[in-house]
Amino acid sequence: MSEKPEVLIKEESIRGRVDEMARRISTHYTDAGVTEVLLVGVLRGAFIFLADLTRRLTIPHRVDFIAVSAYGDSAGTTPGSIKLWKDVTTDIAGRHVLLVEDICDTGRTLRFLMEVFSRRGPASLKTCVLVRKPGKRAADLAKQKNRAEPVTVDYVGFEIPDQWVVGYGLDFQDQWRTLPYIGVMKPE
Ligand code: IMP
Ligand code: MG
Repeated sequence: MSEKPEVLIKEESIRGRVDEMARRISTHYTDAGVTEVLLVGVLRGAFIFLADLTRRLTIPHRVDFIAVSAYGDSAGTTPGSIKLWKDVTTDIAGRHVLLVEDICDTGRTLRFLMEVFSRRGPASLKTCVLVRKPGKRAADLAKQKNRAEPVTVDYVGFEIPDQWVVGYGLDFQDQWRTLPYIGVMKPE
């Protein structure tokens, strides 16, 4: 195992931010008259974030999971297609769906999931990510000029520079997922 990652976002900062996000999400849905939300966590990266978020929401909700993975080069040089490995078991029609993802990098995964879920007739469809890398997202959108709509992220925890982060669910080759903070891999 490589050297311990440097702290980028401290455990206390994550806790504080997840609290805020849970409050905002609960308030938005409550104000909109929604009585129940379906949280859909994207495995595996989102499981720790979702576990904390779900316990802080005051809006009634259910939880389900999907698993996706990108084919090809995750660094974004190859336009890899995305595969849905595990689907939800909940019927989406008429539900208020909130997709919960660990990180939005190029935005391809979320765009794919938005397309999949919007075809199933949800009452509403929103997205929530703990971390977003804005640089790469912009570069990807520029390459996809045929796409009129950029991927929407309704709730973002932290904006970070374009570097590989681990911890709090995020991994590097399945390592460092259970670090309590978000860290940056040190160069080998
Ligand atoms: P996107 O489709 O390019 O937005 O990539 C999203 C997926 O790539 C995330 O769900 C993660 O699984 C993975 N990913 C992207 N950047 C990182 C990172 O810095 N650390 C860990 N996983 C990442
Ligand atoms: Mg992921």
